[in-house]
Amino acid sequence: MNNTFTTQLIDWQKKHGRHNLPWQVNDPYKIWLSEIMLQQTQVATVCDYFVRFVQRFPKVEDLANADEDEVLALWAGLGYYTRARNLHAAARQIVEDFGGQFPANRLELQKLKGVGRSTAAAIAVFAYLLPETILDGNVKRVLCRVFALDGDLQNAAFEKKLWHIAEQLLPPNKEDLPAYIQGLMDLGAMVCTHSKPKCSLCPQNNICQAFAQNRIAELPRKKTPTALQFVDMLWAIVEYNHRFLLEKRPNKGIWASLFCVPCFEDENALHQFIINNNLILLEKKETFTHRLTHRLLNITPYFFRLPENKCDTLENQRFYSYNEMQQLALPKPLSKFFQAA
Ligand code: ADE
Repeated sequence: MNNTFTTQLIDWQKKHGRHNLPWQVNDPYKIWLSEIMLQQTQVATVCDYFVRFVQRFPKVEDLANADEDEVLALWAGLGYYTRARNLHAAARQIVEDFGGQFPANRLELQKLKGVGRSTAAAIAVFAYLLPETILDGNVKRVLCRVFALDGDLQNAAFEKKLWHIAEQLLPPNKEDLPAYIQGLMDLGAMVCTHSKPKCSLCPQNNICQAFAQNRIAELPRKKTPTALQFVDMLWAIVEYNHRFLLEKRPNKGIWASLFCVPCFEDENALHQFIINNNLILLEKKETFTHRLTHRLLNITPYFFRLPENKCDTLENQRFYSYNEMQQLALPKPLSKFFQAA
């Protein structure tokens, strides 16, 4: 594999890439934390969250000792909450299974919950200067374009081929590894973007085969989209004495482990809830939609009042004041709805 790609990327990263990010430090805990936050969230959003997390949990032990609900509350707004639950579980793994020593190579890192091969490789490079490559969606796009690879990204054999190519491209000197890997991330995020890539500013435009063949828009080949699932959801908003009924959701499925008002999939189920708890309907609000990755929720909120002496008859649920709710991890459409209401 030619090394022009590699040297051009390193030179470009040093001049035009992202530097002085708060996690570009010599601490595997902070590097790991940042890589988890950055998995599905952009740098600009992650910065504040990262700083708050490190303030509250300066060491992995602090995170391991925390209550899951506090971790989720600090995560609130970043989305994809499975990451936060895995993060907390992985902190406990490090303390319990690794004796508090951060795993120091890619395969050991991959034993941590929420850490796949690419994330493990990023940590291995930034924390330990080990020769590992990343291959996230951005890097796949860069490679497919520069080398005009027209494979199906959902195909395992093609994915394997991309890993192989990415490994061949690693720089031979370990001192160059961080700039190279950061360069892959920066190029994919800043220049070789999904739409409107800035080819005229790209350090690889002299060797990019897709650019030469005028196939930038066509590569990488588009995934076949997964069908959107439509889901009805009825919200029971039960007020008592300026407090609202919330329950912790199960640890699987939509909004796993977050706090939410009771949700029902149809009017029959809601009706049963009304009867069981003697609820008085105040108002049915207009249905609105909320998009999740593969689902479109049709949410209809219902406001209820509880008869006065009935406030502690419901199981596994509690009433929270609006102020208390600010400290909880709520689903985004619910916190938006409360803010507006
Ligand atoms: N995306 C994933 N990891 C990243 C990092 N370390 N810097 C910028 N973007 C990233």
